[in-house]
Amino acid sequence: MENKIVKAINVSQVFHMNAGNGEESYATNSNFQRCGLTKTKHFRDKAILQICSSTSKTLGFAELGCATGSNTLFVASELMDTVYQNCCELGRPTPEFHIYLNDLPGNDFNSTFQSLQGFYDNIKDTKGYEFGPCFVYGVPGSFYGRLFPSQSLHFVHSSYSLHWLSQVRIVANSSRLYHNLYSGKCVLICKVPQGIEGNKRNVYMSKSSPPSVLNAYFEQFHNDFSSFLKSRSVEVVEGGGMVFMVAGRRSEDRTSNENAYIWELIGVAINELVSKGVIEDEKLHSFNFPLYMPSPTELKYLIKSERSFVTNAIEAIDQVWTSPNTKKSECEEVVTCLRAVMEPLLAEQFGKEVMEELFSTFREIVFDRYSKEKNAFTTTVLVVSLTRMG
Ligand SMILES: C[S@@+](CC[C@H](N)C(=O)[O-])C[C@H]1O[C@@H](n2cnc3c(N)ncnc32)[C@H](O)[C@@H]1O
Repeated sequence: MENKIVKAINVSQVFHMNAGNGEESYATNSNFQRCGLTKTKHFRDKAILQICSSTSKTLGFAELGCATGSNTLFVASELMDTVYQNCCELGRPTPEFHIYLNDLPGNDFNSTFQSLQGFYDNIKDTKGYEFGPCFVYGVPGSFYGRLFPSQSLHFVHSSYSLHWLSQVRIVANSSRLYHNLYSGKCVLICKVPQGIEGNKRNVYMSKSSPPSVLNAYFEQFHNDFSSFLKSRSVEVVEGGGMVFMVAGRRSEDRTSNENAYIWELIGVAINELVSKGVIEDEKLHSFNFPLYMPSPTELKYLIKSERSFVTNAIEAIDQVWTSPNTKKSECEEVVTCLRAVMEPLLAEQFGKEVMEELFSTFREIVFDRYSKEKNAFTTTVLVVSLTRMG
């Protein structure tokens, strides 16, 4: 049988959060991520204070997968507060801040740029004219390739972004496909493990996925995460820090419910629309979420193998969907947040016209399951702190 490439989602072209400030936008529906950021401040403070002693005139900071809304500049503000306080205590002038905001080109950078004046005004109001100055740059592109000049970064942050893979191989009757390594520089031909087609009715790794599917997912994460570390190793100065938060799991079981549960529920909703004839069977069979939620052991192994960074700490935290910033119920949070994150990708695969029905079905499923197994909705987030080795 002739090998045939059917389709591979190129995440860099189709993936972005719902834009703007409307009801379904990421900006309005990112309380879950904001709560996680607030909860882990101590983790970043420690890493920032470590770099304070070694930074001189300029401090380069990159927020990777910045999206839009109030989370975009959250850590940049926090970084400036901590450095400002430290400089005041030591009677030193503050460095010049170069803040790089990175995301994929489809991200709504304009909304962020429009909010920048308020950000600059706030710095002047709270820290005075002697502070900084601070320059903010937008850097569109994939963090799985090079984005910044060599040795230009002192601190790197990323939250809720690194579990997104650069692509997922979507194949039928195929044993080979073009695997775009994403830096845009090289195109390889990779072997697709036998059996990926066997994930038919699943949209992510699940208990019924064949081992080849689980291995293919890990292999993709391995390649992506190693490319990420390799690129940052050139860009981050010796002794520079990196903190990231990623959806993950404590268990070594790749199909553990710790985080896969809500993705499985979207899968249930898609399957329901297939059985009603609203979505074609083939579209479901050829779709897999480009996600991989690693364990601490897997991360430690990949960081050690790549050899540029030393791991200072990895902590697993539990996160629920309720948030003090909103009056919405936990179920409503799950549905609106997932919609803000997933809609552009799902619309690309299944069509814009089915989105209302898909998300109202998802909503019903979430409310039904929540009443029976509330605890299954708690998710695991891994917080990781690294230092660039000499
Ligand atoms: C769920 S949002 C998290 C946004 C923000 N960091 C926060 O904590 O609220 C994930 C972001 O990662 C971005 N992203 C995913 N893959 C990426 C890649 N390869 N390069 C750059 N950004 C990426 C997405 O476009 C999206 O804006």
